[in-house]
Amino acid sequence: MNTIGNAIRLTLFGASHDTCIGCVIDGIPAGFAVNTETITRDLALRKPAPGIGTPRAEPDIPEIVGLLDGKTTGAPLVLRIENTNIRDSDYDELRRVPRPGHADYPAYCKYGLSHDIRGGGMFSGRMTAVLVAAGAILRDFLSAFGISVGSYTSRIGSVVDTASYSAEEILARSTTNALRAMTPELEDAMRCEILSAKADGDSVGGVIRCVACGLPAGLGEPFFDTLDGEIAKAVFAVPGVKGIEFGAGFAASAMRGSENNDSYRMADGAVRTETNNAGGILGGMANGAELSFAVAFKPTPSIAKAQDSVDLFAGTDAELAVRGRHDPCIAPRGAVVVEAMTIFVIADLLIRGGFACRN
Ligand SMILES: Cc1cc2nc3c(=O)[nH]c(=O)nc-3n(C[C@H](O)[C@H](O)[C@H](O)COP(=O)(O)O)c2cc1C
Repeated sequence: MNTIGNAIRLTLFGASHDTCIGCVIDGIPAGFAVNTETITRDLALRKPAPGIGTPRAEPDIPEIVGLLDGKTTGAPLVLRIENTNIRDSDYDELRRVPRPGHADYPAYCKYGLSHDIRGGGMFSGRMTAVLVAAGAILRDFLSAFGISVGSYTSRIGSVVDTASYSAEEILARSTTNALRAMTPELEDAMRCEILSAKADGDSVGGVIRCVACGLPAGLGEPFFDTLDGEIAKAVFAVPGVKGIEFGAGFAASAMRGSENNDSYRMADGAVRTETNNAGGILGGMANGAELSFAVAFKPTPSIAKAQDSVDLFAGTDAELAVRGRHDPCIAPRGAVVVEAMTIFVIADLLIRGGFACRN
């Protein structure tokens, strides 16, 4: 379904080449000031990197319904972003010949010819602009609780950032370039990797590491609505996400308990962990350490290179080279989308857990 959340609920609507995309957000407490500068900043982080991304460039400033003097009233907010840059003809052939790696074929099986295939319809990465706008609104909500969420690109194809950074370093440095790399050298190497795939008519995947600091210990609703479970569900809704690992993740399976356990120490009267293999979550609840997880984005499915597909109408094999506007790498743009989903989950759990008041 198209609704996520419990205390705060978000319902997504629209499609890539429909008149608009948007969402309804219900449950944000009354009296909270919405800062349009944060929305503009976060939407800019989702824009394609100059010279390498899709040339589809729309202003993407959302219309917001439901505020009084810039503040929430307790009523739902409606966010609406107009679609102005639409080229339906790019997608005609995809009804007949589905793109390998995209949602075209399963959507055809599920919805038949009723599916809006233009621009990928509701399976388009464009839908994430709305999620980012919603996340930006709630980013300021979290700030009031001293919670910050950030991310950076830790891998593009074969270019890997092996350094470990503090949350403060990530929050300070990761938004300084379009690829969300932590250093200028890595940004150059990642850009080369993307341009090399693009030159081949191909695409490349990447990994985003997301961190959040300031979470109150105990945040999360076990047994089933755990902090990691809720984040995983929200992040897996982002198109192109294929994996998530919290803290040491899969590597923990190769460790001994003595190595994996994050020892406790008292520091300035507070409980601290000496390491963070748990990624800040134990038993589905925040443990007071920073939340840290990595998200794998696959390579963009729509590529110019010829691929094997089928002609669904003729029932024959076919070849497809995708035309139109497509990013050779979606991971850096996906970073702020991952942040937005994380922010949403934390805000929802803060209210559910009684850390923030509901109306
Ligand atoms: C910000 C963003 C931009 C995207 N841009 C494209 C694109 O230009 N072309 C494309 O084929 N897929 C793009 N995608 C990914 C597809 O929407 C996604 O791969 C597809 O819906 C299939 O879903 P799945 O990969 O999650 O299985 C984008 C995803 C995101 C998050």
